[in-house]
Amino acid sequence: MKPNKPSAKPVPAKIGATVTGADNMPEIREGQTVALLQELHILTRDGKMNQDSRRKLKQVYHLYQFIEPLLKDVLAEKGQVSLVDHGAGKSYLGFIIYDLFFKALNDGSHIYGIETREELVARSQELAKQFNFPGMSFLPLSVAESTESKLLPDRVDIVTALHACNTATDDAIQFALKKKAKYMVLVPCCQAEVASVLKKNKGQSLGKSALTEIWRHPIHTREFGSQITNVLRCLQLEAHGYQVNVTELVGWEHSMKNELIIATYKNLPRQRPSERLREVLETVGLEEMGNRFFTEQLEKQ
Ligand SMILES: C[S@@+](CC[C@H](N)C(=O)[O-])C[C@H]1O[C@@H](n2cnc3c(N)ncnc32)[C@H](O)[C@@H]1O
Repeated sequence: MKPNKPSAKPVPAKIGATVTGADNMPEIREGQTVALLQELHILTRDGKMNQDSRRKLKQVYHLYQFIEPLLKDVLAEKGQVSLVDHGAGKSYLGFIIYDLFFKALNDGSHIYGIETREELVARSQELAKQFNFPGMSFLPLSVAESTESKLLPDRVDIVTALHACNTATDDAIQFALKKKAKYMVLVPCCQAEVASVLKKNKGQSLGKSALTEIWRHPIHTREFGSQITNVLRCLQLEAHGYQVNVTELVGWEHSMKNELIIATYKNLPRQRPSERLREVLETVGLEEMGNRFFTEQLEKQ
């Protein structure tokens, strides 16, 4: 997406007021709720944008560009769509998706935000009420708890997890597999678990092959740990019949964690990725992490 030209003119700040044209602030899309963008600190109190908010909006739009076709696809297929956003934080993503897409629907479509920090959940609940977004719920749960919670439906169409900390992305994958999600949109955060196992087993691994040099130095252990975690996640998803696309989340220049994984359930053959997953775990001395990447379902195949 090309960044748009900045504009100096403020937009109205009334609650519920929406932008009706792209003339006075081209970054804001038609129909977006101006006061919501202010509450999310994307617009300043006087309705202006600064460099920081412009960048934030650009990032969210970039991600939305990947998510919108998925929403449209599910809607066309089922007539309604459910999306669960894990590690929602302040729920920028959920609110912007709701404002741009769900707000116009009246078909039972729903967004759930899952977040452990109660104050963030309470704030998001307030905002959803303030803007009359009845199709949004926020639950003060961990991702793992939400997988078992009766407050969520048995089936979910789309699962997103944007920089959900550490192993929360792995829990989001488990959640999505259990809920038979058609789509997953994941931007993983750093994951320390795999690196710590690589570190622990370094003594035994290092003599085995020259390739173990890849993670001999501590900084390489951490970086390789992060990278191999995402490689294993992709194989895990493929081993469950998903097609996986990995790309870069541009506009996230301030963050090293800009890998975007989009998984689409296609019922693809599972055996090859499953074997590959096992081989990679063995090759890098991560056999003990089998439980993380081989779920019960997969073991039964
Ligand atoms: C880096 S923030 C990202 C927030 C938001 N997704 C975004 O990109 O703006 C990560 C959020 O995940 C939450 N979190 C971390 N571990 C979690 C878990 N296991 N279950 C649910 N939320 C979690 C944190 O409290 C935090 O708000």
